[in-house]
Amino acid sequence: MPQTPFYYYDLDLLNSTLNALQAALRPDDPFCVHYAFKACYNADVSRTIAARGFGADCVSEGEVARLLELGFPAEKLVFAGVGKTDAAIDLGLQAGIGAFNVENLQELDVISQRATALGKTARVALRINPGVDAHTHEKITTGLPENKFGIALEDTLLAIRRAHELPGVEFIGLHFHIGSQVLDASLFAPLCDVINALQHDIEQAGFAMSYINVGGGLGIDYENPAGNPIPDFGIYFNVFRQGLELRPGQQVHFELGRSIVGQCGTLFSRVLFVKEGKEKKFVILDAGFTDLVRVAMYGAYHHIENLSARTGEAVEHYDVAGPICESSDVFATDRLLPHTQRGDLFAIRSAGAYGHVMASTYNYRTLPQEFVGNGPMNF
Ligand SMILES: Cc1ncc(COP(=O)(O)O)c(C=O)c1O
Repeated sequence: MPQTPFYYYDLDLLNSTLNALQAALRPDDPFCVHYAFKACYNADVSRTIAARGFGADCVSEGEVARLLELGFPAEKLVFAGVGKTDAAIDLGLQAGIGAFNVENLQELDVISQRATALGKTARVALRINPGVDAHTHEKITTGLPENKFGIALEDTLLAIRRAHELPGVEFIGLHFHIGSQVLDASLFAPLCDVINALQHDIEQAGFAMSYINVGGGLGIDYENPAGNPIPDFGIYFNVFRQGLELRPGQQVHFELGRSIVGQCGTLFSRVLFVKEGKEKKFVILDAGFTDLVRVAMYGAYHHIENLSARTGEAVEHYDVAGPICESSDVFATDRLLPHTQRGDLFAIRSAGAYGHVMASTYNYRTLPQEFVGNGPMNF
């Protein structure tokens, strides 16, 4: 058994998830799915997704470079990110990526300058902040006016005009992303309404678009991962089939991260100590927020199992904490778990997305290792 803490990705579950995703796409859907790479960088996981023919969504120079190495074709890369560096823009231009999702007017000017200097044409979509509430955690909401992402809705036509005036830029369409961990797919219906209204205004102004990118955001069941390991992609796509008034030749792009890789990853950790506090019992794990930051950062919920549980022992309330010198290093409070002892093995489920990618070396710790296999990890 590897040294804990470590991540394990179940490629069988990933493949079943990809099967479900592909089965939910109909042959006549003008839909293109891009894997939101920021969710999980593991090479085996990423190559498994690339092998299915999906594109990828990236947000930095490093991600563009790595996705090309991993075998994603350049023309299937879409590049968002509020702060693209000149070097990142140049890399995207040289590689010939599918789209730059442009987040502000100054960025549009810079892309035009860089493209002109390199003798390239940038395919540009404008990321519009749609003012649609994803009803998710405030830290993972992106589509509201107070969020830093995208161009203001009312500036859409101004930005499109600007894109048409600039050299080295080809305007292809619009990009949106309302937020992440959206469990009720009907919350994407208002986004469709915004897109339809914009499309009307765009046509009235004499412009056209071929590319509509609705971002990602489909959520997963963190509370019951074993009972609900694969999200309902069918219901999700139906919202867009029914909601969007597409014109001939238009393609709808999706950037799905968590819903593809979230459930296939588990963080394994050992119990270092069981501490009987005055008011609470603490399980101190060898994993901390440096290994999985979602709970400390977003107040997220993860299902936690004691894999060493002994039959017949009572369940108790524990706070499950890590070893980091910060009070926020707690994975769960008042969690009902089987009686726990030093050395027990814990599994923190649904850690495939925004897990290892956010790991840090704070407290001079080592980054957790990653392993893959087919099926649940055997001990
Ligand atoms: C622009 C953009 N697209 C796609 C995603 C992926 O979202 P999710 O993992 O929720 O599908 C994100 C996540 O933050 C994003 O910012």
